Amino acid sequence: MNTIQLKELEQYVDREVQVNGWLHGKRGNNKIQFLQVRNSGKIIQVVAEKELIGEEIFTMAKSLSQETSIIVCGKLVKSEKSDLGYEILLQSFTVTGESKDYPITPKEHGVDFLHDHRHLWLRSKKQLAILGVRNELSFQIRKYFYEKGYLLLDTPILTGSIGESAGNLFATEYFEEGTAYLAQTGQLYLEAGIFAHNQVYCFGPTFRAEKSKTRRHLTEFWMCEAETAYLGNDGNLELQEDFVRKIGINTIHNSGVHLKTLERDTRKVLYYLEKPFAKIEYKEAIELLTSNGFSTEWGEDINAEKEDFLTKHFDGFVFIKNYPESIKAFYMKQNREDTRTVLCADLIAPEGVGEIIGGSEREENYEILISKLKKEGLPIDSYQWYLDLRKYGSVPHSGFGLGMERFIAYVCGIPHVRECIPFPRLMERLHP
Ligand code: 4AD
Ligand code: MG
Repeated sequence: MNTIQLKELEQYVDREVQVNGWLHGKRGNNKIQFLQVRNSGKIIQVVAEKELIGEEIFTMAKSLSQETSIIVCGKLVKSEKSDLGYEILLQSFTVTGESKDYPITPKEHGVDFLHDHRHLWLRSKKQLAILGVRNELSFQIRKYFYEKGYLLLDTPILTGSIGESAGNLFATEYFEEGTAYLAQTGQLYLEAGIFAHNQVYCFGPTFRAEKSKTRRHLTEFWMCEAETAYLGNDGNLELQEDFVRKIGINTIHNSGVHLKTLERDTRKVLYYLEKPFAKIEYKEAIELLTSNGFSTEWGEDINAEKEDFLTKHFDGFVFIKNYPESIKAFYMKQNREDTRTVLCADLIAPEGVGEIIGGSEREENYEILISKLKKEGLPIDSYQWYLDLRKYGSVPHSGFGLGMERFIAYVCGIPHVRECIPFPRLMERLHP
């Protein structure tokens, strides 16, 4: 008998198999029971027929409780009706571990209850699907950069210089060295990396002590960041568009079962990913917003509601370019044609998801960078190493960062990013 995982089933059709799994759920009557058995993130129907297995085994099967771990043996057969395309005709089973009064039942539960039980909630169907998509996206991201010849440069999580803004840092005492901050970004280290490798990327957790309780904010989220030497802002946008399109389309193509579980209409997602992304200047965005009745003015940030309007107006993804310098990070390159602005762009995703990428060309001029650091009140001392990069062979360069959970939310059609990461960290949530 073969012990199998519910991954490569075709080769075992009409053979006897063993599956080590968990009882996801069951239904049936006094003659036949349909056991839903979970293994490797998938669920297979196991059919227990009294006439075939006898009274004793049937009665035991009928009394199994939700989430009991079981080893089932039976014949794998094709089944048109099931999502997997296969089912198992039960011959025998053994119980490995009991499960009494499993707290998450098929009835509806509140969001807080489910998050309090996240360690168990991970087993639920929708959650299996979302993390399946996350797994695929993660692979596609690495594949994309590997094939493009980018070097994976793992950046530190404990950092001595502030990456984005002083406002939302997690800080901790660091021996005799003073304060360490949990990384808000790997970018500054990637910038050092391009001088050695030209094109580099990092992909890992980043931290923001943001007091935002919105559906798009986590305090710990995963970001994929890329940095490229000799690349300007426009080239950076081209790279981002190609990146988002390819990883998005490939993830959708390889996640069919998951997206079906999530009832996601992938035609629409693909339509937006395939068509060219709109590219507008911040200035134009403000004009468009005011002429459509929004109250805003030059210098203000573009909030979620306004982003949503813009993606609807352009019917798809929108890059908003060249924001005012005052609302963006210190490292962004001054726009020499309009020095009030910087050479940057945010990529806004449709369907209410909002900003998924922040990127820019980097200021490569030593003097301007010093004045920017001073203006922001950042401690020049801890940036000496970063400033060195502008002294020894400075080159034009650009980069960007994609928020992993926001992109998963978009692909899956999930309204809140907290379901897009295994164990979300939010302002009010540190457990489990
Ligand atoms: O726009 P941000 O802050 O850009 C950077 O960190 C740059 N250093 C990136 C770079 O140029 N290398 O963040 C980038 C993306 C956002 O567009 C968003 O998708 C995501 O990271 N993000 C968050 N996701 C979840 N929760 C939060 N609190 C997030 N903050 C940013
Ligand atoms: Mg941003």
